[in-house]
Amino acid sequence: MKTIVALGGEGIGPEVVDATCELLLAGGVPVKVLTAPHGEAALKTHGTPVPDETKRLCHQADGVLFGAVGGPASVAVITYLRWQQDAYANVRPIKYYPGAASPLTNPTGIDLIILRENSEGLYPGREGDLSDLARALPDLSDRAGKRLGDFGEGRFAVKVVSRRGTERIARFACELARKRKARGHQGKVTCVTKSNVLRRSDGYFREIVEQVVQGYPDLAYEHFYVDDAARRLVRFPQSMDVVVTMNLYGDILSDVAAEAAGGLGIAPSGCLGDRWAYFESVHGSAPDIAGKGIANPTAAILSAAMMLEHMGLAAEAECLEQAVARVYRDGKALTPDQGGKATTKEFAQAVLAALRNG
Ligand code: NAI
Ligand code: MG
Repeated sequence: MKTIVALGGEGIGPEVVDATCELLLAGGVPVKVLTAPHGEAALKTHGTPVPDETKRLCHQADGVLFGAVGGPASVAVITYLRWQQDAYANVRPIKYYPGAASPLTNPTGIDLIILRENSEGLYPGREGDLSDLARALPDLSDRAGKRLGDFGEGRFAVKVVSRRGTERIARFACELARKRKARGHQGKVTCVTKSNVLRRSDGYFREIVEQVVQGYPDLAYEHFYVDDAARRLVRFPQSMDVVVTMNLYGDILSDVAAEAAGGLGIAPSGCLGDRWAYFESVHGSAPDIAGKGIANPTAAILSAAMMLEHMGLAAEAECLEQAVARVYRDGKALTPDQGGKATTKEFAQAVLAALRNG
């Protein structure tokens, strides 16, 4: 019996995570589900958004499933789960399940991964007053010769691209593409940057990815600028396999690609480090539909499937994904974002029925 910690978070987070955990338990997946105080609620009861007991439980567990946060305490939860644990690889599968509400005329066969560098780039956020940066770097100028001191009052954000950070995400991309190739995928790495404008920073990311890819002659490789990549993800999503990109680009492109495949309500993700992993939907707390019981739990269920695979329960993960696919093919129990009328719980019950009949 394995143990998972479920942190629902806020907004629709607890709605989709609860439905998912009930499904796992009713479906006979051999896991024990624990919950722990976190977020806004923990701030009130424990004086901190991530109490020590929550950290301890997460580290002892075999898997961590997170919902979403939206309140002011949210940053602290994500900071803990993602940045303090150095979960540098954000794996975001984008897959079309026939029956899902894709806006494309031919979404058949969309099956790609957006691999987002999750630990540096413009995140977690290093910002300040422009005047401080101008004092520290008085000679730094842009290509037009403008210096920082010439802007007057303003702010800045620092984008970090390290060799170590880029090498490890590039290796992760190549290993993932190789694993997927063995399962019948293209075996291709697509690197996405804006190296035509940001030559030293994005150019460095691209250069290092290309060095690492050379060690994988069995894989195909291509590079696109991020604006072109956004267009391609909508126009030719089937041409992509593993897309490796920097933090902010990955954040944006994964929402674009998720929508092409059927919507944010369907897109799962995992954040992995060398000794740590947690799993969460791509979507946020969706305050516009929170509390109505109509959130699509697919993203959370598929995130749980990724978690089960990571925990060594690959067969259970596969059954769960196939059950979700059957509910989409059948089309009778879809949530409003997918054009249906089902509630979160009704959708989860349909997946349970598919799981039992599978
Ligand atoms: P969002 O992902 O929460 O919602 C965007 C749109 O998609 C909304 O119209 C929402 O109703 C819809 N949507 C999202 N998930 C859905 C689901 N499962 N079923 C049906 N419809 C769904 O993004 P938004 O509105 O930009 O952010 C809301 C809050 O969530 C913000 O406070 C943001 O900071 C936070 N957020 C948190 C994340 C996390 O905890 N990892 C990730 C993204 C946003
Ligand atoms: Mg996002």
